[in-house]
Formats: sequence, structure tokens, C-alpha cells
Amino acid sequence: MSDITLTINGREVKANRGMTVLEAAQAADIYIPTLCHYPDLEPYGGCRLCLVEIEKMRGLPTACTTPAADGMVVTTGSAAIDSVRHASLELILTTHPCDCLECHRRHRCGPYDVCLRHVAVTDRCVTCPANEDCELQQVVDYVGVHKLRIPRDTRPREIDASNPFFTIDRNRCILCARCVRACQEITCIGTIDMSYRGYAMKVSTFGDLPLIETDCGSCGECMVRCPVGAMFPKDIIRPEREVRTVCTYCGVGCSMYLGVKDGKITGVRGVREGPVNHGRLCVKGRFGIAEFVNHPDRLTTPLIRKNGRFEEASWEEALDLVVARLGKYRGDEVAVISSAKSTNEDNYVMQKLARAVLGTNNVDHCARL
Ligand code: SF4
Ligand code: SF4
Ligand code: SF4
Ligand code: SF4
Ligand code: FES
Repeated sequence: MSDITLTINGREVKANRGMTVLEAAQAADIYIPTLCHYPDLEPYGGCRLCLVEIEKMRGLPTACTTPAADGMVVTTGSAAIDSVRHASLELILTTHPCDCLECHRRHRCGPYDVCLRHVAVTDRCVTCPANEDCELQQVVDYVGVHKLRIPRDTRPREIDASNPFFTIDRNRCILCARCVRACQEITCIGTIDMSYRGYAMKVSTFGDLPLIETDCGSCGECMVRCPVGAMFPKDIIRPEREVRTVCTYCGVGCSMYLGVKDGKITGVRGVREGPVNHGRLCVKGRFGIAEFVNHPDRLTTPLIRKNGRFEEASWEEALDLVVARLGKYRGDEVAVISSAKSTNEDNYVMQKLARAVLGTNNVDHCARL
């Protein structure tokens, strides 16, 4: 329930005690540019883009780290804010491939379009996996950066492609530390951290080892929070639609959206409102579902052994055969093995069938194998 009232850009806004100024503004559909903020991570205050003016407060506080208070009067845009925000964004862009960001034609260029600007392919948004799904593009458009006043540092940075599921391309990293905080706060592993200082600052592992040689569990929680194309999955196919479902890999029951294109699963993302996982997934759920569902060896129809060979059969045929054969056995002559990939409900029905109908307690499932 709303228990405080503040004024943002002259508008009265209700908020809950404990919210930040940014959260209060977002709840009221008031846009404040952000890059280091992420809803389920602790406030960080790194990018300096969410600057606001607050009456009776000195300077330009960051909305993402300032608690909202009753009676607060907040302004999200002014000459002073615009000037400092612009400078903060320029500093971020000095180490970013930003030829497309500065280009007046950017909105007309899609993948494989011919660019006549003679800029390096690696410097273009159109070759970036985040193109048109990039928070930096949105912020640059909002702030309106057209020409950097600071010289760019174009030294190439390391790419870590050692993880089988996703790549870290530090050339596009904006040092927002969302990935680092996700690994520390969400996954509680702390495989990655911000290391070095100044232009040398980067996301790295202990001892600068490739990710594959660390304790990284490949959950991808870092990757999904990256606001740009610096961490991206190796198999990227943008889906045509998404289907909400529950992960079948284990009994935790994480809610997920399956991205689908041409009848195949192309990707998975967690459901933020999912009561069990709050959007989080482990390596199996995030990267393993598409492989087994799309795998050519996956059984999609029952098989009946005839003359020593398995042959495809209809469910009616298969069930008739099971009923006919099982009828010959009694009680503990029968054992039932179910699947950990089935739902809890299906497994419940299976053990009920075993105990109440077949009369046996010989019930187990494949996860013990
Ligand atoms: S991360 Fe965003 S701004 Fe940077 S190259 Fe990719 S699409 Fe462009
Ligand atoms: S994949 Fe998971 S464990 Fe590995 S660095 Fe990212 S958040 Fe940490
Ligand atoms: S890799 Fe992505 S999430 Fe991590 S610091 Fe760089 S931009 Fe931020
Ligand atoms: S995502 Fe991982 S933890 Fe969640 S249900 Fe699937 S296998 Fe279990
Ligand atoms: S979003 Fe507030 S400082 Fe980055």
C-alpha cells in the first residue's frame, strides 16, 4: 500500500516507504535514464545517469541510490542535470564502439545493410547481438549524444569465449557491474569482479583465468543482466513468440518463457513473477532445454519392440499392450520407474497407480540413476 507522497516533475506520486526515488518514478511511469540499475540488484550508483534534483538536497543525487521520502520534491530534467548526464554518458562511450550511435542513419540500418561510412565492422551496432535490444542505444537516444568531445580509447579488449554457452566481449562492456553483482548477490558465487582501474578496468575472474577454468556454474544470471552486447549467448536466434511454462529439469519448478521460432525452441528466459525462481534459472534450465527438446534422438512417440526391433506405435497400441502384459503380474513382481522430467502431478499419479492399482511400493525415478 502506498504510504508516502512525493512530487516528481510537478506531479504528485504515491510510493511505498523503502522505495528509491527511481523506483517511485518508474512506478509512476516517469522515465529516468539508467544503465547500472537492475530491479533485483542492490543500488550501485555507478553510471551517474539517473541524476535528479531534489529540493533541500545539495548537488545532483542519483535517483537509484536515494530513498524516496514523504514530501520530497524531485526534478528529473534541467540544464544542470542534462549537462552532467551528457558528460557521464560521453565518458561511458569513450571505450565503446559507438560509430553507429553517433550516426544519423542508425535507425535505418539493419543486419547486412551496406554502410558507406568506412567504419570498422566491429564498431557497428548492426553487427552486435544486442542491436535494437540495447539499453545503451535507448539512453543515447534519450540523452542525445551526437559527437563525443573526448577522444575515444579504441584499444582492443579481450574476448572470453571459453564458456560453452555465452561469450564476454569486453570491447562492448560499459563497466556497469551488473554481471558482477548478479554473480555475487543472486548466484552467491562471486566468480567475476571488477578489476584494475581507469581505462584498464574490466570484468575479470580471479587470476584473470578464462571463465571455463573458474568455479563459474554457467547459470547465465550475469549475461541476462548485461544491458549491452558485452555478454551474449552463443546461440542467438530472436524468437517469433514466447510460451510460458515450467522447467522440467528438476523438482524446483522454475517458471520460464520458451522463445519459439519455426516450431523450435530458440531460447529460454526466466519469469520475473515466477513465485519459485523470481526470474532466475540454472544452467540446465537456461541452456539445456532447447537442446533436449529439439534433439533428433528425443522420443516423441511410444516404441514397441517387435521381432527384436523398436517400432513406432500409437499411444492406444502402447497402452493396450501395457495393460495386457501387466495384468499377468501381481504386487511386488512389478516395479515402476518414473521420470524426474515429468511434472510433480504426473509423478504423483504414477506412484498412485503403482500403490493403489498395481499393489506395489516398488516406485522410483530416473534422477537416482
Ligand atoms: S552494445 Fe548497443 S550500442 Fe553497443 S554496439 Fe551493441 S547495440 Fe550498439
Ligand atoms: S554464469 Fe553464473 S556463476 Fe558464472 S559468472 Fe555468470 S553469474 Fe557467475
Ligand atoms: S559485461 Fe555487461 S553487465 Fe558486465 S559490466 Fe560489462 S556491460 Fe555491465
Ligand atoms: S532452472 Fe534449474 S533449478 Fe530451476 S527447475 Fe530447471 S533445473 Fe531446476
Ligand atoms: S542507474 Fe543510478 S547511477 Fe546508474
